[in-house]
Amino acid sequence: MYFSLGLKMNKKVFIQTFGCQMNVRDTEVICGLLEKAGYQMTEELNHADIILFNTCSVRQHAEDKVWSQLGEIRKKFSCRKRIPLLGVIGCMAQNYKEEIFKRAPNVDFVVGPSDIHKIPDIIKRLSAQHYPLNAIKVWQTNGNIRPEEIYHTGFYQDKEHAYVVISEGCSNACSYCVVPYVRGQLRNRNYKDILNEIKEAVDLGINKFTLLGQNVNAYQYEDVNFVKLVERVERVKQLKEFSFITSHPKDTTFDLFRVMADCEKLKKYLHLPVQSGSDRILRLMHRGYTRKFYLDLINSYRKIVKGGVLTTDIIVGFPTESRQDFEDTYDLVKKIEFDAAYIFKYSPRPHTEAQRLPDDVPKAEKERRHRLILELQKNISNKKCQ
Ligand code: SAH
Ligand code: SF4
Ligand code: F3S
Repeated sequence: MYFSLGLKMNKKVFIQTFGCQMNVRDTEVICGLLEKAGYQMTEELNHADIILFNTCSVRQHAEDKVWSQLGEIRKKFSCRKRIPLLGVIGCMAQNYKEEIFKRAPNVDFVVGPSDIHKIPDIIKRLSAQHYPLNAIKVWQTNGNIRPEEIYHTGFYQDKEHAYVVISEGCSNACSYCVVPYVRGQLRNRNYKDILNEIKEAVDLGINKFTLLGQNVNAYQYEDVNFVKLVERVERVKQLKEFSFITSHPKDTTFDLFRVMADCEKLKKYLHLPVQSGSDRILRLMHRGYTRKFYLDLINSYRKIVKGGVLTTDIIVGFPTESRQDFEDTYDLVKKIEFDAAYIFKYSPRPHTEAQRLPDDVPKAEKERRHRLILELQKNISNKKCQ
């Protein structure tokens, strides 16, 4: 596209993000790279030359939303002369690879989470092809290590708060979870680069941070473990406040609680997904801890980190979950009194071990269990507010 005077007008990119904070940060990384390559971001779908969906595969529902949006886009642009380039990126890209082209023939390219740095080049190459653009559908992901530079474009949506990726992927094997498949095994970023990124953002005027990882407690780079990383972040001048997500109970240590109590800038906030209160289900989930271990851990957390906030994730209706198993979870939620809990209905995922188990808790029963814990948690939260 050109102005009549011959000045080059930047191509506009619309990007919609689904899923977790990791995807929110990845979207920023992609925006930063695209801006550097001369593209302009737009919030107006109708103005877009390129449309990107940064997708999530964690539950069926998350994927359904994307399939339906892809259908909407197809309808919307079917009778237009100029059809924007359409890319599916993120976790669904990795989960389905070229199958996406079969289910959504209007998609031009597919890029998994490890290859997001290639997006500007892919768009450039596709845009240079002759019409129709969507005849070329060649890219998918194979890579796994992201180049460090991509975290340093200085693109942040929020001018006060930034997410900082400390590790990519996950090497746990929770039997229900697709994340290790779509995001690969755990890779830790060099702590020096993490600290540089934080300092650069501080120079831009950002002073609140959230350190991001699927299991931050497993962080280890040379002799720096997660506790040491937290201590170093605390020492960054002009940084006012920071927190981290997500912690895994089996890797959460008393050392971390002590550092949480000591570090003034670190928010007294712990998101510690328990998933279930039944030992039998926890075993089937391969979570690596028992109900008692979790209860004891929370006991110590509350003793050491005075006034610390505690939130969790819970899955109801995991394969073979009996009424008794569910009651164990219900009872645990009642005992612990979380400040907030995110409750999910079990959703079978491809490439996971649990997919081989029968999804035998009927839908209506999953909904009932979901509702019961939601109500219980709502009462607890209300009580705490008062
Ligand atoms: N790494 C984080 C986040 C994982 S995904 C962690 O370990 O907690 C966020 C939450 O989605 C999980 O904690 C779990 O409660 C839920 N979840 C993951 N897979 C699921 C599935 N197949 N069905 C239902 N909920 C799921
Ligand atoms: Fe998934 Fe478990 Fe890793 Fe979290 S810790 S991302 S639930 S495999
Ligand atoms: Fe979803 Fe991928 Fe995050 S599956 S929850 S966007 S890591």
